[in-house]
Amino acid sequence: MKKDLLSIADLSCEEITLILDTTEAMREIGQRPIKKVPTLRGKTVVNLFYEPSTRTRTSFEIAEKRLSADTLSIPVSTSSVLKGETLVDTALNIEAMQPDMIVLRHASSGAAHLLSRICRSRIINAGDGMHEHPTQALLDAFTIREHKHRIEGLKVTIVGDLLHSRVLRSDALLLTKLGAQVCVCGPATLVPVGIERLGVRVSTSVDEAVADADVIMLLRIQHERMQGAFFPSVREYFNTFGMTKARVARARPDVIIMHPGPMNRGVEIASDVADGPYSVILEQVANGVAVRMAVLYLLAGGVEDEAAA
Ligand code: CP
Repeated sequence: MKKDLLSIADLSCEEITLILDTTEAMREIGQRPIKKVPTLRGKTVVNLFYEPSTRTRTSFEIAEKRLSADTLSIPVSTSSVLKGETLVDTALNIEAMQPDMIVLRHASSGAAHLLSRICRSRIINAGDGMHEHPTQALLDAFTIREHKHRIEGLKVTIVGDLLHSRVLRSDALLLTKLGAQVCVCGPATLVPVGIERLGVRVSTSVDEAVADADVIMLLRIQHERMQGAFFPSVREYFNTFGMTKARVARARPDVIIMHPGPMNRGVEIASDVADGPYSVILEQVANGVAVRMAVLYLLAGGVEDEAAA
């Protein structure tokens, strides 16, 4: 593993497989009566989240505690960021306190790469703007592998706001690297120019895109990143692209339904699909803890046998 985890683009297939295999061992720790191992004892991890988060921040905190790291989350809303302190100055001041790792979420693409260049601490990208969300892609791949026992050759269909989604970029990079056929679908206004360079096929018909899919992943409409109208109305969006039981029926009989969260029910996904028998959405959340334990552990230089001790 490199010093930092900044993007899926930096990971080889072997490194991805190592993280997924290590996740298996980490998940076992979470099933014990005492969910704690001493692996990161004496290490300090700082969670620095400039954007809202429920799943990623909570699961990093739980992962750090299960590995016995000394961990703290800096609430940006009550920090000196509000007094105008820049990301670089904030990071350098945190660095002065000698943490071992910084987990960063930031609205600017490239923010984690910037910290990687100026910080001695290991940097983990917990989502940078519209660029990447590598640990989300890793937990998605782990969840798919759990259900399908492979990634290679699967048809994975991703539907939604492709333009603003860092999850799409990380998932497309990871899943195509491991040999999946990735089809993406959304309104033409929300399809980024050159998306084919990620190795995906673009479809404008959701009914065609979901046909025979092994995995359907929905992406949230990211109103907070939109300036202007990208589609006429939420109702029209749901009618044209929303995931309904009728559309799911076009996929393979053992299809799984995924969503990175947070969900907009009745916009990109119907409630009876989100809560239905094919949904693995809460499994994704549960796997997020084990994946983040694996990433923290491997970046700290661990070896697999020590993790279970
Ligand atoms: N999937 C995800 O990143 O969710 P949060 O924004 O709640 O962390």
